[in-house]
Amino acid sequence: MDKNNIIIVSNRLPFILKKTEGGNVEVKQGAGGLVTAMAPILRKGNGIWIGWPGYVQEEDSDGTMLSAIQTAASGYSVKPVMINQEELENYYVGFANSIIWPLFHDSVDKCIFSLEYWESYRVVNKKFALTVSHHADDSDFLWIHDYQLLLVGSELRKMTMKNRIGFFLHIPFPPVDTFARCPWRFELLSAMLEYDIVGFQTIQDKRNFIYCLKKIIRHADFDIKAELDETITELSFGNRRVRIGVFPISIDYKEFILQAKENNIFKRVQERRKNEVDSKILLGVDRLDYTKGIPEKLMAFEHFLTLFPQFHEKVHFIQIVVPSRVEISTYAELKGRIEQLVGEINGKFATYQWRPVQYLFRALDRNELVSLYRRSDVAFIASLKDGMNLICKEFCASNIDEKGILLLSEFAGAAQQFYQDAILVNPHDIEGTARAIHRALVMPLQERRQRMHNLRQNVKNKDVFWWLNSFYNATIDEELSTFPRVDEYFPGKVANS
Ligand code: G6P
Repeated sequence: MDKNNIIIVSNRLPFILKKTEGGNVEVKQGAGGLVTAMAPILRKGNGIWIGWPGYVQEEDSDGTMLSAIQTAASGYSVKPVMINQEELENYYVGFANSIIWPLFHDSVDKCIFSLEYWESYRVVNKKFALTVSHHADDSDFLWIHDYQLLLVGSELRKMTMKNRIGFFLHIPFPPVDTFARCPWRFELLSAMLEYDIVGFQTIQDKRNFIYCLKKIIRHADFDIKAELDETITELSFGNRRVRIGVFPISIDYKEFILQAKENNIFKRVQERRKNEVDSKILLGVDRLDYTKGIPEKLMAFEHFLTLFPQFHEKVHFIQIVVPSRVEISTYAELKGRIEQLVGEINGKFATYQWRPVQYLFRALDRNELVSLYRRSDVAFIASLKDGMNLICKEFCASNIDEKGILLLSEFAGAAQQFYQDAILVNPHDIEGTARAIHRALVMPLQERRQRMHNLRQNVKNKDVFWWLNSFYNATIDEELSTFPRVDEYFPGKVANS
């Protein structure tokens, strides 16, 4: 990293806040890869993290939560962007999670294209941009994250900010047939072109984006100026250039190995299990989300138990579901559906000694999670659509004995990296997935070791620091920040057909 400061802007700040019954505020560090990777860099370079603290203004009338955040970030600054109840409903629940999230995850049927949502999205993105403009110096690199903040770059340009601005999309970018359904497709795409660099998780996402530009912003005279390498393309619009790149996000590999080696929970469990008959464990860890294919997994597991009765009492499927977006009705309905399926499977197959599905609806701390990763024989990921999926990378990193199997959906971004060594499944194919579970459970040790070894090398070589550096280095180009602004080439709105 060079001497310029970095300002990270994401919808959520990297903290989880909770008011206790006594009125005190508990602040926990968020556990994501972005936090782990960014925190040291922000500390080193006097960086700033700008984001929403996860509660609405009305919940913190006395300001205690706000002051707890200020003290929680050690070594770098945190600047909260507050939203009110109406914005929570229209911007967060509305535009971000009832339009962009489903649209970008191939679930158009779940989209609610409301004008009110769009207006609120614009207002809140502008609010984020204003906070950035208050804190940024001219030479700072501004790095905006994810689908909640697509318009922040264009708002900053309207404020005549000439900084280098990068954007990384953590979720998939949809094909043009899907994206084109959005009434604000032109505005969203044009705004994305205000960034100097736009990063995606996979080559497919990048291709989809470029194809959308060709179809939706087709009046603009844009060219593929250069394929800088196989993952970065530079587009030119007159004198202006925008880089479009592929940067698969990852985890702190070494940190997981360390935790796996030192894991005291795992050691205790092993000790207790010494004299028990060995049974296989299939593990699923997902945020409660309709994109994760949790019902499909349960159905495949049920079918597996029907096809292979010899595995009764010899396999457990542990499914952790981490509560998320419970204020949105589709999420609440999904929870009901999962619980019904778990009940049905256990009701049908359980014996006095055996409960086939162990379902936990809560977040686990890192120590518990790493212990489970180590203890499990198969990680089972069946996303119907997923930007990357970091659970599979965490599982591989923690699998220090190199005996585990990764059963991975073809539709997770990670499949593009792991297709040779994971067992890939189409989660819509219940029969095929059930047979893949069987294949994973009977795979010979030598083959398992070889595959897991390769997977782990892959995660090791492309860890979160690799991700960070490749994105950052791809932004370095002296000329980039002096380019004319993109709206000089888009004079007013053109028919968005
Ligand atoms: C996905 C998104 C993130 C988001 C996270 C949790 O991973 O890419 O931007 O923060 O889900 O969702 P939430 O709505 O709770 O922030």
